[in-house]
Amino acid sequence: MKLLIGILIGLLVVAPLGAYFYVKLGFLSLATTAKPLPMEEFMAHTALRESIGSAQNLQDPLPVTDENLLAGFKAYREHCAVCHGLPGESKPVIAAGMFPPPPQLMVAREMVTDDPEGATFWKVSNGIRLSGMPRFDTLPETTRWQLTMFLKHADRLPPAAQAGLRR
Ligand code: HEC
Repeated sequence: MKLLIGILIGLLVVAPLGAYFYVKLGFLSLATTAKPLPMEEFMAHTALRESIGSAQNLQDPLPVTDENLLAGFKAYREHCAVCHGLPGESKPVIAAGMFPPPPQLMVAREMVTDDPEGATFWKVSNGIRLSGMPRFDTLPETTRWQLTMFLKHADRLPPAAQAGLRR
């Protein structure tokens, strides 16, 4: 029993103290160039997945049309491209300096075309804390679904929408 209490007190005192000195002694660098913390990626990914939860099952209520895709692209160019890049252009300066880096959503291997629409809509509506990804809940819901639609179809935009991209 005494041993158990000893271990418990040890954990309750030593763990917070350890965390305190870890930060106080400067081991927790907040420079964007610092190495990721142990478990940082696991915690960020798991917490994000659990935060989204069943909202990932939401379906885009809008029909997939050239108008909606183009409206999505316009909103993207205005609010997102500064971090997530434009088709055929090099990585924005802002993106190059961020940690975690904003995925380049117009580059094939970093697109979110395979993600559930509900998950993308959730990220656009709520943002992602501690990452630099803002929430865009001040944009109308329709615009957020149009953005979601544009990102979902980024690898197979119909010709009319592709032409709109170049304009
Ligand atoms: C200031 C920079 C910034 C702006 C502006 C921004 N984002 Fe992001 N976004 C990020 C970062 C950083 C991440 C990566 C977060 C992470 O690693 O968890 C991200 C992640 C995402 C993701 C998840 C990507 C994935 O691979 O899972 C989506 C989707 C997204 N952003 C969409 C948007 C949309 C749509 C807009 C515009 C309405 C936008 N973002 C504007 C920085 C930004």
